[in-house]
Amino acid sequence: MRNAYSSSTTPKSSGITPEAVYYNRRSFMKSAGAIAMGAFLAACNPGYETDIESTSTLSASLVDELGAPANSYEEITSFNNFYEFTLSKTEVADLAKDFKTSPWEVEVSGLVQKPGVYTIDDLTQKYPLEERVYRLRCVEAWSMVIPWTGFELASLLKDVKPLTDAKYVRFETLHDLTQMPGLRDTSYPWPYTEGLRLDEALHPLTLLVTGIYGKALPPQDGAPIRLVVPWKYGFKSIKSIIKIELVEKQPQTFWNTIAPDEYGFYANVNPDVSHPRWSQAQERRIGENTRQKTLVFNGYAEDVAALYSDMDLSENF
Ligand code: MTE
Repeated sequence: MRNAYSSSTTPKSSGITPEAVYYNRRSFMKSAGAIAMGAFLAACNPGYETDIESTSTLSASLVDELGAPANSYEEITSFNNFYEFTLSKTEVADLAKDFKTSPWEVEVSGLVQKPGVYTIDDLTQKYPLEERVYRLRCVEAWSMVIPWTGFELASLLKDVKPLTDAKYVRFETLHDLTQMPGLRDTSYPWPYTEGLRLDEALHPLTLLVTGIYGKALPPQDGAPIRLVVPWKYGFKSIKSIIKIELVEKQPQTFWNTIAPDEYGFYANVNPDVSHPRWSQAQERRIGENTRQKTLVFNGYAEDVAALYSDMDLSENF
């Protein structure tokens, strides 16, 4: 068994510097059925600024649904895991700075009635973008709070009409040796792939993301489009996606292939199930020195626990 994740020093806190004002997801969810969805769910493109005057549901500060303040743009974009570039978290941004993210196509195929190939413009024009402040909990026991711009994966999946045999969704990252120096390490099972059960993929918390802080996603964070599954360890949130495939069987995934005893397919955040080499009971929020308790399903239990009601989560970790 290999040492999966490298360790690297964390950046100094540059403070919490909200660059825009965002609403709280839970308050949004509560008022979602209400009238003016469009008023506070205003469709936006990277660069869009939230109009704080338009509604009282907007929070005055940039916090996640549990009230935790967002990390700064600087923190989110200078401390990254993106092994296709490097194992060094603080060097990803520099090595990825010239990464070509346009033109870009995402193939949606497999067990669907309506397979298709989409450009990023196709997707962002078809599916209104919204902002969601989610916590991201890495399996390495650090976390961040990130204001993502994206749309629900479910919207796209429903449009391609999964066939009844489709039970899982498989995702694949670009594999381009000319741009991604980390791919030269052939001991890894490239391309990076991930997978979700179809009901997880259809869950309204599961996002396809194209931006951070209202700006286009930078390369180091998975431009031009990535997955974000907030109740799972960060490695499920695959970056720079070129293919989304509906399949019948549980797909092979990158980390699960490398070390199945350490990185389960489900990878739901669980403080009660230790990684074989470290505890998952606590985490360190980037930018803070103290550790805090890790929450079951990363704080999203109310929304997602029902997906796993018939499963033993210590076996299906
Ligand atoms: N996706 C790809 N293609 N390659 C990677 O190395 N790392 C994962 C995930 N997605 C990774 C990836 C891990 S381990 C984490 S914690 C998150 O991306 C980190 O996302 P961030 O750098 O935007 O914080």
